[in-house]
Amino acid sequence: MHDRLHRSPAPPLTLVIFGATGDLTRRLLMPTLINMTKAGMLGDDLHVLGVSIEPGGDEFLVERLDTFLAANGMEQAQQSDAWQRLKTRISYISGDFTQGAIYQEISRRLQQAPSANAAFYFAVQPRFFGDITSRLAEHGLLDETAGVFRRIAIEKPFGHDLASAQMLNATLLHSAEESQVYRIDHFLGKETVQNIMTTRFANMMIEALWNNNYVDHVQITAAEFVDVGTRGKFYDATGALRDMVPNHLFQLLAMVAMEPPNSFDAESVRNEKGKVLKALRHYSRDEAAKNAVRGAYTAGPLDGKDLPAYTETPDVAPDSNTETYVALKLFVDTWRWAGVPFYLRTGKALRARDTEVVITFRQVPFAQFPRAPSRPDLPPNKLIIQVQPNEGLQMGISIKSPGLVLKTAPIELDFRYADHFDIGHQTGYESLLYELFLGDQTLFQRADSIEAGWAAVQPFLDLFADGAKPDPYAPGSMGPACADELIGRDGRVWHKIGDD
Ligand code: BG6
Repeated sequence: MHDRLHRSPAPPLTLVIFGATGDLTRRLLMPTLINMTKAGMLGDDLHVLGVSIEPGGDEFLVERLDTFLAANGMEQAQQSDAWQRLKTRISYISGDFTQGAIYQEISRRLQQAPSANAAFYFAVQPRFFGDITSRLAEHGLLDETAGVFRRIAIEKPFGHDLASAQMLNATLLHSAEESQVYRIDHFLGKETVQNIMTTRFANMMIEALWNNNYVDHVQITAAEFVDVGTRGKFYDATGALRDMVPNHLFQLLAMVAMEPPNSFDAESVRNEKGKVLKALRHYSRDEAAKNAVRGAYTAGPLDGKDLPAYTETPDVAPDSNTETYVALKLFVDTWRWAGVPFYLRTGKALRARDTEVVITFRQVPFAQFPRAPSRPDLPPNKLIIQVQPNEGLQMGISIKSPGLVLKTAPIELDFRYADHFDIGHQTGYESLLYELFLGDQTLFQRADSIEAGWAAVQPFLDLFADGAKPDPYAPGSMGPACADELIGRDGRVWHKIGDD
């Protein structure tokens, strides 16, 4: 494994981007490469080879990207020295990636490239993932010989249920080794998500309490303020559960619940995360019904505008049963977490953007503070890992209120990244692309974890497929009332979404 403490430039390679004229490339990949160049993570031996159906030569793609950066608030990046250097190393092949001819051309270009190393990035619709991989393999483009690496990078969704995820993995692994497949979950590029492991394993006072003796329950929230907007077609076929849970929320859950790995190398970390996902309890249909609720937002004011109901969103079926909010109560059946509920929720058009993990510890058992469990001034300790926005850590503890009588008061120890570090101006993909180029799979998902995640949500998918309507919730609220009932039945409440 490379030395994670020192940021040497990635090795020479060609980044082949399928879908080079699409939104992902211009909005994310190019700005990321520019940031990486500025930060010394890339040298001048990175070449980009764009592939897309649109006609044109090398200049066409460079001009396209240039214009986009300038017109979309990225003038600084567009005028940077990094971009001026990078764009001299961008070339383009126009053609249809469902046809063989283009792969011969890619092969020819790679033979001419200064380095034979290549990473193939599939910035295309997921239905093409299997086909492109098979064709790359057929043309020998995934052969790794004489120290040369060939890698593929794909981004979720990895299937839409357990069976399709298994099929996708089988297709990929028929043509490529697992060590060549980099499955991106962009949550793992977030600094604060990566910080979960450090928070736990670099701090004895935290890790020592990190088990069912001391933890009462865990809440994992990915609340979004944005509504479905122009993504109706994709979203109506997907829904909040598929879109967020088996991937992003389960990645957070795995980091919270994993055992300490033997080392921080990719396989050790992925083994431990995989074990957590495999230990998620698989519910029967009745259990799934008791442990899940869902909602869809109604029409109402949001952000100073009148938001139409989800079912009135363009490209959404008026009689749609798709949920824009889901909450689940799950169990991780391991020694460490036996009996500790994990409450997960995510939704759109909610009160605020707020992604966080809240660990609530058990109440002190003590009688010195009369009737401790019911005293509002002696709440249980909480650790809040604020993933976004306002990245940071907060710890809720109790102190003695100054004065002659023994009175306690809850206070918060509050750490915000922004107060101490500059973590702005990043796309969140820098570390992902860097690790892809270096060949470190720690931040990428392995086939078995993907399937374990889908296996745990499959009972909910089956349940939701029965046509029942999601419960309504008002835009700008904290979700449907049924979500409060789900957690309220256990005598608990959700942590408030957004700041007070
Ligand atoms: C994507 C989902 O994977 O993650 C989107 O498809 C969602 O629906 C997004 O909005 C959330 O990511 P982030 O980084 O904005 O929290």
